Amino acid sequence: MKRSVTIGLAAVLAAVLYGCAQYGGVAALRGSDTAAADQAPAAHFVYMGKKPGLQKPIDRTIKGQPPLVPHAVDNFDEITVAENQCMDCHSIEKYREKQAPKLGDSHLAFSKDGMKKTLLMDRYQCNTCHVPQVDAKPLVETNFVGSIQK
Ligand code: HEC
Ligand code: HEC
Repeated sequence: MKRSVTIGLAAVLAAVLYGCAQYGGVAALRGSDTAAADQAPAAHFVYMGKKPGLQKPIDRTIKGQPPLVPHAVDNFDEITVAENQCMDCHSIEKYREKQAPKLGDSHLAFSKDGMKKTLLMDRYQCNTCHVPQVDAKPLVETNFVGSIQK
């Protein structure tokens, strides 16, 4: 009886030692220690385009796509409860004077009194859908082809 316990313990010890020898640490997919801080991107990307009014619209690649922002947004991309700088040019009141494309019709609904069209609040955060452009190399190769032919 005593002997079989000793053999059993020896087997467990051998298994533990073997396991430790095999263990090389967990390799995380992100390639770094999970507790380490994320590295900032190496380059600071600059948005393409100059001030609004100088660009051509960027071709859409699929039907129903939110058009991409062709102009720089550096000084007027602030969207807060109090102000929405995109609306300074694209709103229904301002677009003619600013010679900017008018908000999409889908973004508007009649006000409660039915007198004028106003922006739907679920469209308020313009840059959730409309994004400025950066001349960056794609992170992965893609063979995507848009469905709108030029
Ligand atoms: C100073 C006026 C002005 C401001 C502010 C402005 N835009 Fe524009 N936007 C324009 C003009 C003018 C164009 C036409 C293209 C051009 O000339 O750059 C345009 C084009 C666009 C287009 C392309 C539309 C299409 O049909 O292809 C989108 C999308 C857009 N702007 C979104 C935005 C968003 C989002 C903001 C806020 C971050 C914003 N714009 C702020 C004037 C402005
Ligand atoms: C939930 C996504 C979404 C949000 C938020 C949004 N848009 Fe759009 N926008 C679209 C889509 C999709 C289109 C193209 C189809 C359409 O007109 O609905 C579009 C079209 C446009 C166009 C081109 C209209 C035309 O007739 O060609 C302009 C300009 C525009 N949006 C500006 C804005 C501005 C400014 C804001 C913020 C106040 C905004 N959008 C918020 C999705 C969005």
